[in-house]
Amino acid sequence: MTTALAAKPDGQASIEVDVVDAGLSFAGRLIFQNVSLTLRSGEWTALLGPSGVGKTSLLRLIAGLPEDGGVTTGTVRASDGQPLAGRIAYMAQRDLLLPWLSIIDNVLIGHRLRHYRTGVEDRQKALHLLDQVGLAVRAQDRPAALSGGMRQRVALARTLMEDRPLVLMDEPFSALDAVTRFRLQETAARLLSGRTVLLVTHDPSEALRLADRIALLAGAPVQLTDAGRLPDVATPRPLDAPGMAERAAGLLQQLALQDATSQDIRASAEMGLA
Ligand SMILES: Nc1ncnc2c1ncn2[C@@H]1O[C@H](COP(=O)(O)OP(=O)(O)OP(=O)(O)O)[C@@H](O)[C@H]1O
Ligand SMILES: [Mg+2]
Repeated sequence: MTTALAAKPDGQASIEVDVVDAGLSFAGRLIFQNVSLTLRSGEWTALLGPSGVGKTSLLRLIAGLPEDGGVTTGTVRASDGQPLAGRIAYMAQRDLLLPWLSIIDNVLIGHRLRHYRTGVEDRQKALHLLDQVGLAVRAQDRPAALSGGMRQRVALARTLMEDRPLVLMDEPFSALDAVTRFRLQETAARLLSGRTVLLVTHDPSEALRLADRIALLAGAPVQLTDAGRLPDVATPRPLDAPGMAERAAGLLQQLALQDATSQDIRASAEMGLA
């Protein structure tokens, strides 16, 4: 099958997104504040950080999804001044597949919700994307018949089906075995070329392989820092490209340091020492 995503979404130019002074708290508990970040047009930005630091929350804030009981501050603006609504594809950390729909209908859910009916071309494209993630043969199955990694691949196909200029993905490869992960990283890099992408990951090597820029969300209080210059190799970078192993080790060390510091500060606070 030759169906492929266009280099840019239909009729939608690539966009830059500015997040300015974003903040979030729950019932007075501050998660982060004064977080500013630019998602450059047509580039992949990876967001790395320890568990619980607020990566999913920041992604949801950018997507304009309300947090239950959360109070948010700051602004999220597209460079063209137009609203972001309708221009975002969001892949959540949980796959959120609808159990009563077949796999292919789950991939088509956005189309179904918007147009009520899907055409032959839509179904062909959905099948092509399922083929790209290795699941075309399971198109008629229900989600319950799939493994966790398979379900995550369906969620990835569904995100790609949305074909939007801004793509927010929350650990999209986390449930995959090493070989499938490597292959799907390449597939996503190819199919999302030209999109502005924010990728949340725990894996420094994955960030280094795919991202044009890496931002670290860590520390106490939580801060967003740019990881600096990345190896001068086109993405997806081969893992054995010069400088990759050293940078991965450096990022891991940076994360571990900040995590240890924040744990110390939390522990001190709990003991009434800070
Ligand atoms: N609805 C909620 N009510 C109260 N606290 C919440 C809520 N949602 C998230 N939190 C808290 O906000 C913080 C950030 O959560 P978030 O899910 O953004 O972390 P994360 O960095 O994505 O973690 P992980 O890597 O484990 O997915 C956590 O301390 C979490 O407990
Ligand atoms: Mg998360």
